[in-house]
Amino acid sequence: MIATLDFHITRTKNSKLAGTDFNKLPFGRVFSDHMLVVEYEDNEWKTPQILPYGKLEIAPSMLAIHYGQSIFEGMKAHRKEDGEIVMFRPELNFQRMNASAVRMCMPTIPEEIFFGGMSKLLQIEADWVPQTSGSSMYLRPVMYASDEVVGMHPSTGYRFVVMCCPSGPYYEKSLRMKVETDYVRAASGGIGAAKTAGNYAASLYPAKLAQDQGFDQIIWTDSQHRKFIEESGTMNLMFKINGKIVTPDVHDTILNGVTRRTLLHLAKHWGYEVEERPLSIDELKTVLENGTMEEFFGVGTAAVIAQMEAIGFNDKVFELKPLEENGFALKAKKYLQDLCKGKIADEFGWLYSVMK
Ligand SMILES: Cc1ncc(COP(=O)(O)O)c(C=O)c1O
Repeated sequence: MIATLDFHITRTKNSKLAGTDFNKLPFGRVFSDHMLVVEYEDNEWKTPQILPYGKLEIAPSMLAIHYGQSIFEGMKAHRKEDGEIVMFRPELNFQRMNASAVRMCMPTIPEEIFFGGMSKLLQIEADWVPQTSGSSMYLRPVMYASDEVVGMHPSTGYRFVVMCCPSGPYYEKSLRMKVETDYVRAASGGIGAAKTAGNYAASLYPAKLAQDQGFDQIIWTDSQHRKFIEESGTMNLMFKINGKIVTPDVHDTILNGVTRRTLLHLAKHWGYEVEERPLSIDELKTVLENGTMEEFFGVGTAAVIAQMEAIGFNDKVFELKPLEENGFALKAKKYLQDLCKGKIADEFGWLYSVMK
């Protein structure tokens, strides 16, 4: 464990900042000038380095690319109207990253490396944090097995990297969702609750088939019965049914989303009845048919709230009404935008200050 955090800092000689168009920041495709890199060797984390963003050498035998011992997170930093840079609930990403590390037989990341490293990186990249409303700095921490050996066992060496993507407002196209009953994302006892590479790889082929059928994304169902709604590719799912906020309960096949937790907190605070429980395909069809499904939306760090245009079952596609401005989902979205811009008080202590 590193008590006081030293850094080795190498600054870029070729900043890309002046040449970056902040009005054109496609999500996840523009990277700032620097990244954080921390190696784990001989059972300990080494001195964190801040390096120019760029390629890292890997050997063809590197364990992560063969056996998928790799985990990541996704979180955002925002610039408030008064200039302060804040991260949104990073302690939840920290806890989830370390829970993923335990499940994937990887070392946990000490608090001071996670928070200290990311804060230092953001301080150096401060000019890259977008100003405009709806824009933010997406942070992508990743940890992967770095041993160079062909053999199926946990690595002894790891690399923790954090990169920064200044990102414009997420494209808000409404999504056509397919309820998937042939393929599964995760089975009980597996790795579905960890944010690890394999879960995403498993979803690529069914997602491609769904796209070929005119859908944008998948609604996963449970592996045992193919009957209960789980989540989507990179979002948890939330419904307003008969005035109540309903979402599948989290268990070991669902990622416990930060946005999901945040919205459930807001819903309770605003007096909605909240139900975290199994939600079957049959119930979903019934509430769609009898008109008691008032809102359906995806929740995740990238989009915050994703609007849905349609839900397709094997035998039927339901077209949906757009979300209403004064409904729960868009009210929550506005609340979070205003909070991260510093327009309203941080009543629940969700903002973590990085730089005033
Ligand atoms: C599979 C999956 N479910 C849900 C989410 C939403 O989680 P969060 O709100 O923490 O971004 C994500 C995104 O991280 C995800 O990849």
